[in-house]
Amino acid sequence: MFQSLSGKKVVIIGTSSGLDLAIAKKMVEVGAKVVLSHSSQEKLNQAIELISLEIEAKTVDVSKEDSVNAFFEQIGNFDHLVVTAMGDRNMPRSLLAEMTTETAQAGMEKFWGTFFAVRASLKNIATDGSITLTSSVTIFKSSKMGGISAIAAANGAVAVFGRSLALELAPIRVNVIAPGLIEDTSIWSHQSESERSDLTKWAMAALPVEHLGQPEELAQAVLSLITNPYLTGVILPVDGGVTLL
Ligand SMILES: NC(=O)c1ccc[n+]([C@@H]2O[C@H](COP(=O)([O-])OP(=O)(O)OC[C@H]3O[C@@H](n4cnc5c(N)ncnc54)[C@H](OP(=O)(O)O)[C@@H]3O)[C@@H](O)[C@H]2O)c1
Repeated sequence: MFQSLSGKKVVIIGTSSGLDLAIAKKMVEVGAKVVLSHSSQEKLNQAIELISLEIEAKTVDVSKEDSVNAFFEQIGNFDHLVVTAMGDRNMPRSLLAEMTTETAQAGMEKFWGTFFAVRASLKNIATDGSITLTSSVTIFKSSKMGGISAIAAANGAVAVFGRSLALELAPIRVNVIAPGLIEDTSIWSHQSESERSDLTKWAMAALPVEHLGQPEELAQAVLSLITNPYLTGVILPVDGGVTLL
């Protein structure tokens, strides 16, 4: 009933840190042929060493249309696409009153990267395949501190883009994952030990699930979206219940 990923080719756009690596590992674990991508060959080599030497990996700069088109021409036919590139870390934060047009436009790069990747994938993706996009819980819940309006708008654009395409691209299934706070990703490398510890304590006290998200928990949710043939047009929060607070 559920689609097997054994021998299926899964392309992951943007692979060097916690979330994407966990998704790639999960795909390999269930027997998929994974294609990793990143703008840096060095980071790809590191990812290959961490996951499996059998993995195919190609460079792509998802912010550049030509680079994305060339990437998809190289990889040929495939079954499933997962786009995780361009994390919130790459997006500038600013309170609206001080936000420049450049900052706001840079914030929307995540949408454009997603757009380039999905459009270029259409020539070679299987009709019984799927596309999984990555948005964020920021589309459901803002921050009291502010400064994330452009990021939230970009994540909202990704989510609505995916939901619209679920009809347009059918029978290819299109779903969107909306992560909450996930531990051990690159976002965390910018935090001090005490900030991390405070966040961990907050999660234990405040979240219904009493812990921060783990990359493997997100990867398992992506696997469900890819393999369940009845799921399309879904925007799935994987957030430990933070939107209930
Ligand atoms: N981690 C969380 O708690 C969290 C929460 C909500 C949503 N998300 C979403 O989940 C996704 C993955 O999150 P993350 O924390 O793992 O984000 P991330 O590390 O900041 O970025 C994801 C990946 O995209 C790559 N990338 C960035 N710019 C690229 C480009 N121009 N071309 C190709 N690859 C590029 C990054 O490479 P570099 O590392 O070299 O920049 C990284 O491998 C993102 O869409 C993020 O918005 C994450």
